[in-house]
Amino acid sequence: MLVWPHCRRRIVHSVRTGDVAAIVLGTRTRSSARARRRFISSSTNDANNENNGTVENKEKPFYVTTPIFYVNAAPHIGHLYSMVLADTFKRWQQFVGKDSFLLTGTDEHGMKVQQAADKVEKPVKQFCDETSQLFKNLATTANISSDKFIRTTDEDHQEAVHKLWTTLLEKGYIYKGKHEGWYSVSDETFYPESQLNRVFDQASGVTKVYSTETGKEVEWASEENYFFALSRMREPLLELYKSRISDKFVFPYSQFKPIIDSVEGGLSDLSISRPSSRFTWGIPVPGDESQTIYVWLDALANYLSAAGYGQLTSHEFKKSMWPADIHVVGKDITRFHCIYWPAFLLAAELPVPKHVVVHSHWLMNGAKMSKSGGNIVDPNAVMAIAGVDSVRYYLLRHNILEGDGDFDTEKVLERRQADLVFKYSNLVSRTCSKSFSIELALSHALKGYPVAHTRQDKFLAFQSDLIAEANNLVDNAAKHMNNFNPTGALSEIWGVLKKANQYVDYATPWNTAPSNISPTIFVMAEMCRIVSIVLQPFLPTYSGKALDKLSVSSDHRSAEYAKFEADMTYGKDANLPNRGHVVERSSR
Ligand code: MSP
Repeated sequence: MLVWPHCRRRIVHSVRTGDVAAIVLGTRTRSSARARRRFISSSTNDANNENNGTVENKEKPFYVTTPIFYVNAAPHIGHLYSMVLADTFKRWQQFVGKDSFLLTGTDEHGMKVQQAADKVEKPVKQFCDETSQLFKNLATTANISSDKFIRTTDEDHQEAVHKLWTTLLEKGYIYKGKHEGWYSVSDETFYPESQLNRVFDQASGVTKVYSTETGKEVEWASEENYFFALSRMREPLLELYKSRISDKFVFPYSQFKPIIDSVEGGLSDLSISRPSSRFTWGIPVPGDESQTIYVWLDALANYLSAAGYGQLTSHEFKKSMWPADIHVVGKDITRFHCIYWPAFLLAAELPVPKHVVVHSHWLMNGAKMSKSGGNIVDPNAVMAIAGVDSVRYYLLRHNILEGDGDFDTEKVLERRQADLVFKYSNLVSRTCSKSFSIELALSHALKGYPVAHTRQDKFLAFQSDLIAEANNLVDNAAKHMNNFNPTGALSEIWGVLKKANQYVDYATPWNTAPSNISPTIFVMAEMCRIVSIVLQPFLPTYSGKALDKLSVSSDHRSAEYAKFEADMTYGKDANLPNRGHVVERSSR
């Protein structure tokens, strides 16, 4: 007798005769309270829902943010990547049973935006409304489960920025002074000498100065500004970094190290306002309208605004969802998120975020995608060709946390065909074939109906391995997700899918007498169900379709159900003909 120790129910196989297997039932001990845990709906999309993010007497939600996107240009695939990564982190937390909150939005103030609006001769607010809507639409199309879409032109955000400013002022970190230095209009930042590169232009005979970090041109500027005493934050920041290295305050470490080195090298005070005479498209300094708040202070504060900072008393704010658990950012904005942001927060005596997860860039023909470079990929166009989840899959399947990746639309289609159609959708389609019955297989399993078949021990050992791998799938994927690595989690999932497909080839159920088929169909159905449950945070639409096709009840889709025999209630109508494919074959 072969007993599968990981199963509550046991499938008994007579080794002695080698030709009879019986499915024997055990009792179910699942607690109904656990079973009623939240699951991720296949159609979750709350980009338009607003929520002030406060929590009363509850565990703080897991709070994930994307960068807020500049509205000076339409979204491209790099922006979508930040959104998809953050969305996957949020959905994963929800999947493992945590209340989670995802914030995205648009960064609308500053010279760059004012200039972009002037260029197309539109009133700046109207220009912002229109471009912000493009990002909001992108979030909706890409199934980004954002709980709030913030705009820095929102009134409550302005209140939060004022509150942060006033707090920093009261605590003695803001002073007024004269500022001279190398300023990049495009980056809206002053750069120290150590971060400049001089290039002599033969044609004009002029030496131009550029930021080494962003490659943008800088010009000498002199003006009256308010300053933030960043130099005083060197020690507290180094202390923070030291205490949080093993907690991955900044991840990956290859992005953390240059930050630590830079702060160790010393910090200059930071100009945090600009004369309103230079530009007015921003939030005025409280009590001094002649100055406009520096866009990065304004923008970074969005993470606090969404947690209710501007509205709540400090006592209430302590019970809010702040601090953020994960800020997802691109590598070009680490200085702002890993130095300035924690410095502002420490100075204001507010908790700092738990993790800043930094990703590299998507390139197009070897160069960073950017509007100015004229090499952008329109995410809406790619999603229209390949399907939303195929694009999500392509983006997540490439780990660009450590290094840049080249985006290639043809490769999106290739991966779709090879991995999603052939390995995933086909497995579900074969299992839901009209020649089989999942419902019958489950009812045989439940009734302990003896099913005769001829199976070799080798086959049964393969089957046991497959089931064990499926049972470990959540834990194995979790190890990667705890390391901010959806690529690794997807590899684990595709490992099970590969083995499940081999199992079907091995089992050849289509050559098996219908009376012997149930144990195999049952294992195939369980593989489809378990894999689809674990896929939800990554590919919410395809996995939702598969679970619908298998008729898995919507409250049996949480992580705890991703175990062999954890749900014996599905399968009704799963084998009716013409129910469509999870991923339609592409015509290209
Ligand atoms: N507005 C600032 C962020 C403020 S957050 C308080 C900003 N906006 S952005 O629109 O220029 O960029 C938003 C995000 O998109 C950044 O994380 C940036 O790194 C990312 N990407 C922009 N181009 C990218 C690629 N080509 N590839 C991947 N992501 C890149 O910065």
